[in-house]
Amino acid sequence: MALRVASRKTLAHARLGLGFLQSRSLQTLTLPDISYDYGALEPAISGEIMQLHHQKHHQTYVTNDNKALEQLQDAITKGDAPSVAKLQSALKFNGGGHINHSIFWKNLTPVSHGGGEPPHGSLGWAIDANFGSMEALIKKMNAEGAALQGSGWVWLGLDKEFKRLVIETTPNQDPLVTKGASLLPLLGIDVWEHAYYLQYKNVKPDYLNNIWKVVNWKYASELYEKECPTERD
Ligand SMILES: [Fe+2]
Repeated sequence: MALRVASRKTLAHARLGLGFLQSRSLQTLTLPDISYDYGALEPAISGEIMQLHHQKHHQTYVTNDNKALEQLQDAITKGDAPSVAKLQSALKFNGGGHINHSIFWKNLTPVSHGGGEPPHGSLGWAIDANFGSMEALIKKMNAEGAALQGSGWVWLGLDKEFKRLVIETTPNQDPLVTKGASLLPLLGIDVWEHAYYLQYKNVKPDYLNNIWKVVNWKYASELYEKECPTERD
């Protein structure tokens, strides 16, 4: 009997194309720590915003993604294809929220730790080559962020296939990879109202102008250098 049950399960998994998950235990997501104090980005971003953003908003994406992952595992175990399909939007939204915010905290750093210091070396040269100058890049990202309707993100990404920098926007919590499998996020700016409204009210352009004062270009440069190592003699 046990064999028959196992065999039915295997067939169900095979039908869903998810057999590889059958014997894996579910690994839950956790809220990552931020490497600086909530108030350390002031005056560019208030400590109150940072605390709520991290402890409430990001935590909610983590909690809801864990719930959806648990439901997914249950649906897969039962071979319940409609439930698997139904869970996709919750997984994209909450999983994307977790992915994007985990990058966002690393994209920022206090001024005392180099926040806002423009990138030196190969990323700095690539920005000049692709966009003309750092000022031109900031202007373009701010314009795209300001023009984004509803909630979403504006990204500086690296197209790993063509080794070139790109500016993209994504709606809601869609991660950059939804715009192309070869896109690596170097810098993501959260343009949801929860990222600025308590401090900047409805003046999104002021938030976008000020966030550059605490951008961690060192982190973006390390990612870039890893994919596009500087050739040395
Ligand atoms: Fe956010």
